This record gives sequence, C-alpha cells and structure tokens, in this order.
Amino acid sequence: MEKIVSLCKRRGFIYPGSEIYGGLSGTWDYGPLGVELKNNIKQLWWRTFVQERDDMCGVDAAILMSPEVWKASGHVDGFQDPLVECAKCKRRFRADQVADTCPECGGKFGEVRQFNMMFKTQIGAAEGEGSISYLRPETAGGIFVNFKNIIDSFHPKLPFGIAQIGKAFRNEIAPRDFIFRVREMEQMEIEYFVRPQEWEQGFESWRNATRGFMESIGVPREHVHELEVAPEDRAHYSKRTIDFEFDFPFGRKELCGLAYRTDFDLSAHAKASGADLTYLDDATGERFTPHVIEPSFGVDRTVLALLASAYTEDELGGEPRTYLKFNSAVAPVKAAVFPLLKNKPELVAKAREVYLMLKKQIPQVMWDDNGNIGKRYRRQDEIGTPYCITIDFDTLGETASLKDTVTIRNRDTGEQERVSVDSLVSRIA
Ligand code: GAP
Repeated sequence: MEKIVSLCKRRGFIYPGSEIYGGLSGTWDYGPLGVELKNNIKQLWWRTFVQERDDMCGVDAAILMSPEVWKASGHVDGFQDPLVECAKCKRRFRADQVADTCPECGGKFGEVRQFNMMFKTQIGAAEGEGSISYLRPETAGGIFVNFKNIIDSFHPKLPFGIAQIGKAFRNEIAPRDFIFRVREMEQMEIEYFVRPQEWEQGFESWRNATRGFMESIGVPREHVHELEVAPEDRAHYSKRTIDFEFDFPFGRKELCGLAYRTDFDLSAHAKASGADLTYLDDATGERFTPHVIEPSFGVDRTVLALLASAYTEDELGGEPRTYLKFNSAVAPVKAAVFPLLKNKPELVAKAREVYLMLKKQIPQVMWDDNGNIGKRYRRQDEIGTPYCITIDFDTLGETASLKDTVTIRNRDTGEQERVSVDSLVSRIA
C-alpha cells in the first residue's frame, strides 16, 4: 500500500489534502493524472448506465439541500457510528474498530456514544437552528427529491432509473487507508424505480450490471466478492443489501453496494413534504409508490481498486521495473509521443506533427522529450500509458520504404512494432 501511495504522490495522481498546512485528515487532492483517471471512470460509468440505456436519465442536484430532506430520510436520527473516547489521551475511535483499551496509550475507554456523521453547516447570515443545513451524506437524496420533477417533465414508464455523480461528505471518526475511507468523497449512484412485485428481478439485473461494470474497467472478477449483508448490519432503509467487496492491499473491504430501499424514501419524503410521489400506471389506472433498487459506487474506492489491481512489479530487459497495468479505457494517458532525439529539429518537428494530429482525435496523449528513450519508457510505464510512439530517422525517410512509419511500444511486453502514422489512431483508440 505504501508503494501505491508513494507512486500516486510522486507521479501526480493523488496528494494529501491541504498538504502545505500539514494536511487535513480524511481529505485528498487529485493531481493531473488522478483527475484524468477519475474522469475516465465517471465517463465510462455515465456512458454505460445512462447514455447507452433507454430506461435511465441523469441529474446533478445541489449538494446543499433543505435539512428537512435528511430528517425525512432518517439521517438526522440514524446516520451514526458508535464512538469511544480514551479517558487518558482523549483520542476518539470508532467503537467497532478497537479492542477494550486505547491502541495509542493503553488507556480505558468511556461509554460508547452515538456520533452523527453528517457535516452541519449554516445557510445565510443569520445564525441559529433555523439556518442549519447539512452537506449531503449520500447523493441519493438529490435523486429522490427530483423524482416528481422527472415524472412531470419526461413521463418515464416503470421500470426506470435516475443516476447522479457527485460529492458526498461524512464526518468519519477514523478516516484511513488512503482514499478508502475519506470525509469528502464522490459517489456514482442510481435509484432504479420498479413495481413493488418486480424488485427481485431488478435486484438481480443490477447485481449483474455491477459485476459487469467493474470487470469492464479492469477490476479483476476474482478479486471481487459478494457479501449478503445481515439484517442487523443493513442501513435503516434497506431490506436487502449486497456489498461488493474487493481484495484491497489492507484486506477484503466494501468497494460498492447494492440495496433494496423499498418505498422507504419516496414514502418518507411524500409524508414529510406533502408532495405526491406516487406513480400512475397508464395501462392499469393503478396509482402506487414505486420501490427502489440502488446500486451505489464510490468513485474514490473504484480509483483505489484500479490502482491496486494495476500496480505491477516485474523485470524487463534484465532490470526491475514498476508499472501500472491499466486497461486503456481508464488509463490517464492513452499514448506518449517522443522524438528519438531532442536536439534534432527535423525529428522534433515531425514528432510534433504526429503528436498534434493524434491529440486532435485522442486528447489524452502526452508529449515527452526529457532524458533518453529508456527513461521515457520507464516514466510512462509507471503512470500506466499503454503505448509509446517514437519518431526516428526512418519516419523522415532515411530508409525510403519506412517513411511515415513510427515505432509503437507495448507497455506490458516492452515489444516494439513499426507501423504507419496513418494507422496510429485506430491502434490507440
Ligand atoms: N446511497 C447509499 C450509500 O451511500 P454506502 O454503503 O454508505 O451507501 C456507498 O455508500 C458507497 O460509497 C460505498 O460502497 C463506498 O464505495 C462509498 N463510500 C462510503 N463511505 C465512504 C467513505 N467514507 N470514503 C470513501 N468512500 C465511501
């Protein structure tokens, strides 16, 4: 794990939050390569689950919501973790993550207290109870409150789903394990509305879709395990939950989840707001409250699962190397373009021409002319670039039959091939 954290910082994937001020626990900043990786994941998710389907649409709701939302959803009363405080050093821990004595100083713990994990904030200039709001602890809330809007504007037929990608905040007692447990995270969530009697079918279909998505972006199936969550461990709104666990470097832990939320949320919001959140079935004339299947993905945990899956150490040409074996759909850089020598203007000019041609069609292409070719290869391997393209004297026509050809090197095998410049886009894309 330390190796992954160190690579992420060194190569510009992920930095500690507010680092120059000593850091802020539970926050991380994504650097230039991290943001590309994260965006690739989000775009693939959106494309798979929203754009390629006829039964889905998306929203991007406000993070700040009426506090009534979180009262109705049960989060104000029930979104809690058990907290213990050491009587000696005053450090606080999650009661279910420690033994009987303080792991720091061996002191005794006081009584277990319930700690609400929502971040409170204040809206407007006037202070007081009336101006309190919360940073959303799950993106789901923004979907439920827009259910009626979507019905009124689009008249979708059941079953249909609403998706959202966005930030969520939890005041975790013990943030840990790099970006695994953080206080500010990003979620990709779907609320899929079904007829009450069809929930099992919906659940199975989203179970398959969740497995399929993880595999499609490069999280190996053999490292993902499905855990049927016991009733006493389920969230207050769920009648069935499956946790998709992943073999992280620090153990098998939840990567994403699938829950059957019944009509809990729509009914609770209808009751609290007075809005009609029922659905009218045109065919039967029946009016009822739909039930909900919720696949919920954490973006940060997906990033970490991909980093852990891709991190590889091997030997190439008799030398040890470290590389990220990303599948090219998520790789932050799809290809790097080099002139063989930096001090030969004719090589540099031709390499720039190839680079700009590629960049127009594949924006995630990188230019690199620093150091010798071997060093450039190692640098690109370390950030997971699937292909390196070198422009050499043969590209310029030194050997007439090789004019306008380049070498393309495969990250995983280190093997090089000579291909025409014209074929590069289809090779890389
Ligand atoms: N709307 C349902 C919901 O929020 P959850 O199991 O509490 O359910 C869903 O969270 C996903 O969000 C988790 O599977 C995980 O990927 C991610 N997640 C939750 N808490 C997190 C945290 N503190 N840090 C990073 N990711 C987190």
